[in-house]
Amino acid sequence: MESTEIVQQLDDIRRAALASISGSPDTASLEEARVAHLGRKSKLSKVSSSLREMSDADRRVVGKTVNEVRAAIEDAISSRLADLTSAERAGRLERERVDVTLPGRKPELGLPNPLTSVLDDVLDAFVGLGYRVVEGPEVETDYYNFQALNIPEDHPARSMWDTVYVQGETDELPLFRTHTSPMQVRMMEKEPPPVYVVVPGRVARRETPDAKHLASFMQIEGLAVDYGISMADLAGTLEAFAREVFGASQKVRLRPSYFPFTEPSAEVDVLCFNCGGSGCRSCGREGWIELLGAGMVHPNVFKAAGYPPDITGFAFGVGIERIAMARYGVEDIRWFYENDLEFLESFR
Ligand code: DAH
Repeated sequence: MESTEIVQQLDDIRRAALASISGSPDTASLEEARVAHLGRKSKLSKVSSSLREMSDADRRVVGKTVNEVRAAIEDAISSRLADLTSAERAGRLERERVDVTLPGRKPELGLPNPLTSVLDDVLDAFVGLGYRVVEGPEVETDYYNFQALNIPEDHPARSMWDTVYVQGETDELPLFRTHTSPMQVRMMEKEPPPVYVVVPGRVARRETPDAKHLASFMQIEGLAVDYGISMADLAGTLEAFAREVFGASQKVRLRPSYFPFTEPSAEVDVLCFNCGGSGCRSCGREGWIELLGAGMVHPNVFKAAGYPPDITGFAFGVGIERIAMARYGVEDIRWFYENDLEFLESFR
């Protein structure tokens, strides 16, 4: 082959190589182009190895051209490689970009159920007065729920505390407690006087649910037993509690009432939250709202607990839902248990 012909061929090789290099879309295909045009099996290598068989004159001309073509291809590859590498890095940076100026995602914060808040506040108020918090069983015996509280089997007061009876293997745990009062005798059986405790817990009644009643609700029982306790201590304690939970200007009023386990007994009212005492629709124009039952512990209750005859004490029982209704102006007791998010969020 004539050397001019080979030089022509080398020119074709270069053009083809440069075209495929500049057309390589990424570094992987650029590497393929490098192997194809500079590798041992490339046309350029074949020409290069044929130099040996050429005359000195041809070898000088063709050899020079081979070197030029090789250099041109190598230059093209390294500059294309630089372009592709920086483009690929830019692409990766773009894909992996984090916009630190975007506002973060706010985690959704829950809040305590209003009944939990009320429960905590009431317990805090009594802990501040030196009371301990204790809990008792929700399923009770007839003895602690009634008999030990001066309610014998044929007592008419049983009908106002009717409840769900549990069919047990034995007769030992036959009913859902109707109040937290059974813990009075349980505590006194366990510990000698003095006893100052508050007992939160769930209770059950035979009740058709309506705006003011539920068949299952929560109470807090209070019991203060010591020597020389009077009704004035009860009134003062309840007023301190009312101020702590409802505000410093709150007042309490005691009205004579009846409970089998206290003598004397009282219904305790607080000033209406809506009108502050002047009388409105919420309080039936009374100015007062009934909040709890209380009284001086009946001697028969002390006797059931095995306490000495000269011991004294007061007790009270308050419904958590009723406090929450009064405090937040909630008209229907059932709303606390419906898990309606809009209702619950309104306490935020
Ligand atoms: N146990 C009563 C009830 O559920 C409330 C009560 C009234 C509790 C007077 C007391 C009390 O400790 O002295 O209705």
